[in-house]
Amino acid sequence: MNKKGSFYKFKMIINFLIWINSFLPKKINKFFLIIFRNTPTVIGVLIRYVLLKNICKKLGDNVVVYQHVVFDAPEMMEIGNEVSIHPFCYLAGAITIGNYVSIAHTTAFHSHNHTWGNKELPIKMNPVIVKRIVIQNDVWIACNCVILSGVEIGTRSVVGAGSIVTKSFEKNSIIVGNPAKILKAL
Ligand SMILES: CC(C)(COP(=O)(O)OP(=O)(O)OC[C@H]1O[C@@H](n2cnc3c(N)ncnc32)[C@H](O)[C@@H]1OP(=O)(O)O)[C@@H](O)C(=O)NCCC(=O)NCCS
Repeated sequence: MNKKGSFYKFKMIINFLIWINSFLPKKINKFFLIIFRNTPTVIGVLIRYVLLKNICKKLGDNVVVYQHVVFDAPEMMEIGNEVSIHPFCYLAGAITIGNYVSIAHTTAFHSHNHTWGNKELPIKMNPVIVKRIVIQNDVWIACNCVILSGVEIGTRSVVGAGSIVTKSFEKNSIIVGNPAKILKAL
């Protein structure tokens, strides 16, 4: 795929900013990610990219994070190339996102669940179980979806608006609904 656009044009400068920023501890970068969460325009996109590059386990090229996106535990995240995360998304914990993935606004990823086995303790004090969410390459997740713990969505799939994805799906599927089910193959 042809790599065009501002990111590749200015990649050397972006890499220089990443290098300078890498001298700051992760904790400070995470704090700045909150401070710059709502910064508009391409400036905000650039700042968030540089910060995330030094926080995430992996961050590819041209990852565009729009305003008001909340990252909870971004240090557990792996994100590929050419990914866009649109306004008001919420991403919590262990998440792997492949290449060419678009996540529309107000979509939430929750890789953890509370447990309730110990009746002596309130549910919120019981252990939390984390299962990684995996979004393979070339997936469009439409607006207002919820992707739950342990789910894997196969390559070249579409998740329709408002879907609650509770289990994994094979590649080439359009899935919709609550709970999400296959509408048709792509
Ligand atoms: C899934 C989607 C891509 C449409 O796919 P499509 O192949 O054109 O589907 P159709 O419109 O032909 O609908 C087929 C059936 O699925 C249902 N359906 C479509 N989208 C649905 C959704 N998100 N949730 C539940 N059902 C849905 C339709 O009601 C229809 O049901 P019916 O056969 O009982 O009448 C689209 O509906 C969608 O969700 N788009 C997301 C838009 C969005 O979030 N944009 C954000 C900007 S990136």
